[in-house]
Amino acid sequence: MSNNLQIVAYIIASALFILSLGGLSNQETARKGNLYGMAGMLIALTATLLGQGVSHYSLLVGVLLPGGMIGAIVASRVVMTAMPQLVAILHSFVGVAAVLVGIANYLQPNSTLVGAEATIHQLEIFIGSFIGAVTFTGSVVAFAKLQELIGSRPLLLPARHWLNLALLGITVGLGVQFMTTPLIAGLTPLLIMIAIACLLGAHLVLAIGGADMPVVISMLNSYSGWAAAAAGFMLSNDLLIITGALVGSSGAILSYIMCKAMNRSFLSVILGGFGSNSNQSLPGVDQPQGRVTATTIEDTVKLMQTAGRIIIVPGYGMAVAQAQHALAALTKLLRDRGIQVRYGIHPVAGRLPGHMNVLLAEANVPYDIVLEMDEINSDFPQTDLVLVIGANDTVNPSAIEDPNSPIAGMPVLEVWQAKTIVVLKRSLASGYAGVENPLFTKDNTRMLFGDAKSNVELILTQLNPHPVAVLT
Ligand code: TAP
Repeated sequence: MSNNLQIVAYIIASALFILSLGGLSNQETARKGNLYGMAGMLIALTATLLGQGVSHYSLLVGVLLPGGMIGAIVASRVVMTAMPQLVAILHSFVGVAAVLVGIANYLQPNSTLVGAEATIHQLEIFIGSFIGAVTFTGSVVAFAKLQELIGSRPLLLPARHWLNLALLGITVGLGVQFMTTPLIAGLTPLLIMIAIACLLGAHLVLAIGGADMPVVISMLNSYSGWAAAAAGFMLSNDLLIITGALVGSSGAILSYIMCKAMNRSFLSVILGGFGSNSNQSLPGVDQPQGRVTATTIEDTVKLMQTAGRIIIVPGYGMAVAQAQHALAALTKLLRDRGIQVRYGIHPVAGRLPGHMNVLLAEANVPYDIVLEMDEINSDFPQTDLVLVIGANDTVNPSAIEDPNSPIAGMPVLEVWQAKTIVVLKRSLASGYAGVENPLFTKDNTRMLFGDAKSNVELILTQLNPHPVAVLT
């Protein structure tokens, strides 16, 4: 393929990636957005493989085939609840790729570059490898936290910000050494810097508590984009630079939106919790203190039959139980009986951005009754019944009532303002942030213990004498 044709293909692929991002910004156009992205990636890959600098096709096939097969198998098997872990580990691959490209580029330099161009290229290698290494270990730690291989409690080492600053200082020193060392001798400072950046990435993410993990994931998404862009600079590949910049900037915007939604400082989170309130009590208390009122399916059905306005608040437990189809059937039944039913969605409910929206859309819950937290929060005082389906941290009043809580300041769905709340979950266990939830002991709260899907199906059976099949 000629260079000109390759440039045209790259421009088309870039345009498709931009259309893809536009499509993904809305549930109704998300499928189309994904298709644009897939088409763009196919064009990009084909144009790169047929490009003039590419040889050794047998080696490429030997790498692409098993890689593609492993990717297809993992993606087809992953359950929706494990998606964030998959995304985190995929970010780590981008990070490690940027590091390897950096080392390979340094070991086999482009001999046509001289003077300022060569210096800039050296700088690209150093910065690209740094971003890649931070992204790599940061993403591995995020994966381990999400997979619950390690706890979600923040690791708060004494003087941890000074430690980060010292690691950054050493990195700058190594950078100076790397830039001023002739020929291959710069490999040693480069490798030491990579080891230090790995340590920094792991430490930054370890210091973040469970409730702030959504921001970390979108932030690592952004880092992986910048790592890809840095690899694009090292390889002089315009498409990689554009794609990396798109991912990097959209990830940064998403992190900013998440921080605003959770009332967190963007800078504080990217600096490993810098400036956060160290007086906050650490999470870990599992059981709420006070009297818990358990309820039954029969009583919940009675509450529904007399309610005029119902709000359903889903959380991670709905995803675990896969209760969305049963909920969609329940919603239809109640609406057919003239009851107002709406959904309240917290921006970080579940384990990935838009998690609840995707599941509800999959079950064909009408978009217009699925409302964001800001749109519905003031309606709880006029609501007869709230059904909390496997949500916990996102409906925890201590975020508002207890300034020493680890989730203090995070906006939550104020479900306790409603007349009655029925919480569907299996036990009194805490949510992802590991924080006790005083909602369970409020006077107007009833706990309906058990698996969310089974209980919603039992409610449906009692409410409807002539049941219709629930599609799962
Ligand atoms: P969580 O606070 O994580 O609570 C989920 C609850 O679901 C658990 O307390 C669990 O209680 C219950 N549950 C689990 N399986 C169930 C089942 N089969 N049936 C019924 N209940 C079940 O959920 P949330 O309110 O959605 O909050 C999300 C949390 O995750 C926040 O802390 C957020 O910061 C964090 N996070 C979010 C993201 C994104 S991007 N959304 C990413 C990473 C972390 P039982 O065990 O007692 O049933």
